[in-house]
Amino acid sequence: MVDAARHPNIEILAYSEVTKVDGYIGNFRVEVMKKPRYVIEDRCNGCGECARVCPIEVPNSFEMDIAPRKAIDVPHDQAVPLVYAIDIDHCIRCYKCVEACGKLDAIDFSQEPEFVELDVGSIIVATGFETFDPAVIPEYGYGVYPNVITAMELERLSNSSGPTVGRVVRPSDGKTPKSIAMIQCVGSRDSRFMEYCSGFCCMYTIKNALLLHQTYPDMDITILYMDIRTPGKGYEEFYNRARAAGIRFIRGRPSQITEDPETHNLFVEVEDQELGEVIELEVEMVSLSTAAIPQADTERLSSVLALSRSPSGFYMEYHPKLRPVDSPSDGVFLAGAAQGPKDIPASVAQGSAAASRAARVLTSDTWEIEPIVAKVWPELCISAQGKKCGICAQACPYNAIIVEPGQPAQIIQAKCHGCGGCAAECPHDAITQDHFTDAQIVAQIRELLRENPEEKILVFMCHWCSYGGADSAGTSHFEYPSNSRGIRVMCSARMDQEFILEAFRRGAGMVLVSGCHPQDCHYITGQQVAAKRFSRVPRTLERLGINPERFRVEWISAAEGEKYARVITEMSEKLASFDKEELRAETERARPAIEKRLRRWMMTPHMAPFLKDEEEQEVEKEVMA
Ligand code: FES
Repeated sequence: MVDAARHPNIEILAYSEVTKVDGYIGNFRVEVMKKPRYVIEDRCNGCGECARVCPIEVPNSFEMDIAPRKAIDVPHDQAVPLVYAIDIDHCIRCYKCVEACGKLDAIDFSQEPEFVELDVGSIIVATGFETFDPAVIPEYGYGVYPNVITAMELERLSNSSGPTVGRVVRPSDGKTPKSIAMIQCVGSRDSRFMEYCSGFCCMYTIKNALLLHQTYPDMDITILYMDIRTPGKGYEEFYNRARAAGIRFIRGRPSQITEDPETHNLFVEVEDQELGEVIELEVEMVSLSTAAIPQADTERLSSVLALSRSPSGFYMEYHPKLRPVDSPSDGVFLAGAAQGPKDIPASVAQGSAAASRAARVLTSDTWEIEPIVAKVWPELCISAQGKKCGICAQACPYNAIIVEPGQPAQIIQAKCHGCGGCAAECPHDAITQDHFTDAQIVAQIRELLRENPEEKILVFMCHWCSYGGADSAGTSHFEYPSNSRGIRVMCSARMDQEFILEAFRRGAGMVLVSGCHPQDCHYITGQQVAAKRFSRVPRTLERLGINPERFRVEWISAAEGEKYARVITEMSEKLASFDKEELRAETERARPAIEKRLRRWMMTPHMAPFLKDEEEQEVEKEVMA
């Protein structure tokens, strides 16, 4: 930290918050709010005289609230920068700090939040994690029984610069416990709370156990675990060392902790899975190894930076295997536990990787961007006519569309990733997508349904997941009927309702729209935009006279070849159950209503190249008539 602070090219804005990010890769403008410290940074020399005279004590979050701190303080002794700040919510304005500061005159109660703007080429998000609050698990009695503490609290107690100068003591009586139980997976691997494994708890618990064993050789130490996970280099050896040192490992998740109100000793009830029986341990202290969870403001920052989050709430990487430190927004990289729980070696490795990815951007004169971007037809955009719209901007997960009154929507191409959601959502068909234009997709629909359309299942699949699922069904030799025909687009967000209607107008027997599972979409919220749209399709079809059972939505990952084959088989069976004559008749009956609905779209200039086709000219004439 000190090296970073001294580096001539590094400026640290501590006690600050990112409030706004505009621009794109290589050209970001970041607004940062510097919170008022009520201490002038350049004048404070970190001597601490102010804290010594401050009469107000408040809980110290760095010490896990075990010890107090003053209302004017630094977060911890090694803080960088070592500049004091006043906790204005607790300050009583006695001004003793002003006196103590003397000639330095660093205290300034008139400070207000200050906003600074930075021009940067790339951004690294390294916001870390928080720990789960075990008080929500009533059976463990955290917050009720004084001698049930968290592993972080145990860390502070055993730290020589901690509140007890390294002496591990029971909160109930200040005595060193003779026995301790350490409970693993508190809040993690638990379907009630966090389903994921927090990854590093096994190792820090074993470390704490060995440290306690070295300091207090007579202490009886038991670790209660579901599975010990030691996948890192040298980790298994470390675990074996703990076993050899006499640390007891019992496999089982405790069901209940109770307390003797007189001694404040604790009784841990657990099913020992090796013995196959319920046992009760009496210990003098319990430490809970709590889950790592996302920082509280992860959601706020994800909307500021256009980042997506996985179901666990941590920031999602662009691709878990191929681009694990890139975020879905170009030029924004992820490092450390902000992306998911990880230990120190993994965090350091990812931090170095993120730094080098960011440096690539800074050292390049030019940068290749996605060629598959959205394109606005200004004459169709009603915003240019002064009317209120902006639906495209709302659908864009990358904030790549600017809509200003009196101007056509403007796509910032360097920010557009080409999901196609805006093109599908625009109610005036004023947007299309390069390389996946409406005309190109309609041309594919036409060709795939040219012969015996009522026997076909037309499948719209997203490039990243369901197309891979179909591919994997083939390469894995899963059998499924041969009457499906696929059209690939980049994201399910691109699957315009008009494509579905056009498929039925052309007599498709059934239509399947498929994309990634919600958490896997490569375009942040693309799948969500699509899912909302698809939920309206059955009603539209019903109104137009098409049996909604001929339409299906499925989320299929690239690994789910078996699911793809199953869905096509089921749809094929369903299709076979329909009377072909009746199916054709249904299409004929519905066609005028569908054509009426599609008329304006078919007349748009971006459909013009398609309409030059002979057959389509006929359609055009019919439609116009
Ligand atoms: Fe597959 Fe968005 S990329 S649904």
